[in-house]
Amino acid sequence: MDYPPPANYEEGKVGPLALPDSLLCKDGTAVNDLLTWQLKRRKELLQLFADNVYGTTPNLDNSFKSELLESNENALGGRATRRTVRLSFFGSEDFYIDLQIISPRDTSAPHPAILGANFFGNHAVLGDADIAITQRWMRDTPDSNWVILNQATESSRGCESERWQVDQIIEAGFSLATFYYGDVESDHPEGWKGGVRGTALQRGFTDSWGAIAAWAWGLSRALDYLEFDSSIDATEVFVMGHSRLGKAAIWAGANDSRFAGVISNNSGAGGVALARRNFGESIQALNENFPHWFCEKFATFNSRPNDLPVDMHQLIALIAPRPIYIASASEDLWADPKGEFLAALHAQSVYQLFGKVGVGTSEWPAIETPVGHDIYYHLRRGGHGVTAYDWEQFLKFLSEKRLKQI
Ligand code: GCU
Repeated sequence: MDYPPPANYEEGKVGPLALPDSLLCKDGTAVNDLLTWQLKRRKELLQLFADNVYGTTPNLDNSFKSELLESNENALGGRATRRTVRLSFFGSEDFYIDLQIISPRDTSAPHPAILGANFFGNHAVLGDADIAITQRWMRDTPDSNWVILNQATESSRGCESERWQVDQIIEAGFSLATFYYGDVESDHPEGWKGGVRGTALQRGFTDSWGAIAAWAWGLSRALDYLEFDSSIDATEVFVMGHSRLGKAAIWAGANDSRFAGVISNNSGAGGVALARRNFGESIQALNENFPHWFCEKFATFNSRPNDLPVDMHQLIALIAPRPIYIASASEDLWADPKGEFLAALHAQSVYQLFGKVGVGTSEWPAIETPVGHDIYYHLRRGGHGVTAYDWEQFLKFLSEKRLKQI
């Protein structure tokens, strides 16, 4: 099969959009008040996403043991502290998440934090020579020598540093907590066997859940640890992710209300882009190219996206009333930037139930003109990625949110 498969990029061929109503329960009850939303409709929607898209995360025993692997009190030229903590699960030496926490070296702890999974290992986020290079399986990088024969190489140190603007994060007074997503499950169709989904199956949980939900599980486990870490303010942990890990971040935020908010960067199809909009990546392309990401039932919608009982504006609505930042990029057409904006717009009715504003405009904003109040949105110039521009906007929004809470 061609990759990417033929996709529509013509606005004129998108066709009319008929989105499912977030404020109408399955039994026809209209949602006019918060109680009906919280106790009835929200639960229905969460269940519909689990049943039809991401799968059901089993009720595992998530207790863990933590061990400090290494630390550096003098990171970022003395402006930060850095440590890696190994969280081991299921009584196994092999199942662990190595969580790297980088914090401002000041006296203002506990710090608010951004938590996100990374694509290339903790050593790729900061180039420091004392960070161990992960031995886990990694997707090869044919255009560079970062990953050869599925192993990260020495030259991958710092290779993801543009995506994680650690200087800016520290400067803004936030900690960054990050782990390699392959600690939870390797990103290939057989990866489940050695990851949390395989472990769950061995323990008798036969639920169908996908790798996106598995990575989201890992994000919640990292938060479990942060709740016990006195240097972090666990009431102010924002979950962030780019692309497939943006899909995982928003699913984590939807399931786990301990997250103070969500940042979805270029999460696209299977993330915040409307599935019914025929533009860029389709449900079929997702399921054919990445058969391990979603639950089995999601593939039954490959040729009939209009029958999906939910759409992605309702995923955003599950975050309400917490803030969410949705970032698109102008050349990232595969992720359907306009479909991401429209999902944000149509999530607004639920935010308004809470007396919030939402994106506050029905016009898709011009390039690099951020909009929004509790649902924030911007369209960065350029392609798929996370840049310094994106982080400037995220940190501005996070700082505003903090000031309001103090
Ligand atoms: C592919 C995939 C996207 C995904 C992206 C990424 O392009 O089709 O859905 O978001 O990879 O994770 O980088």
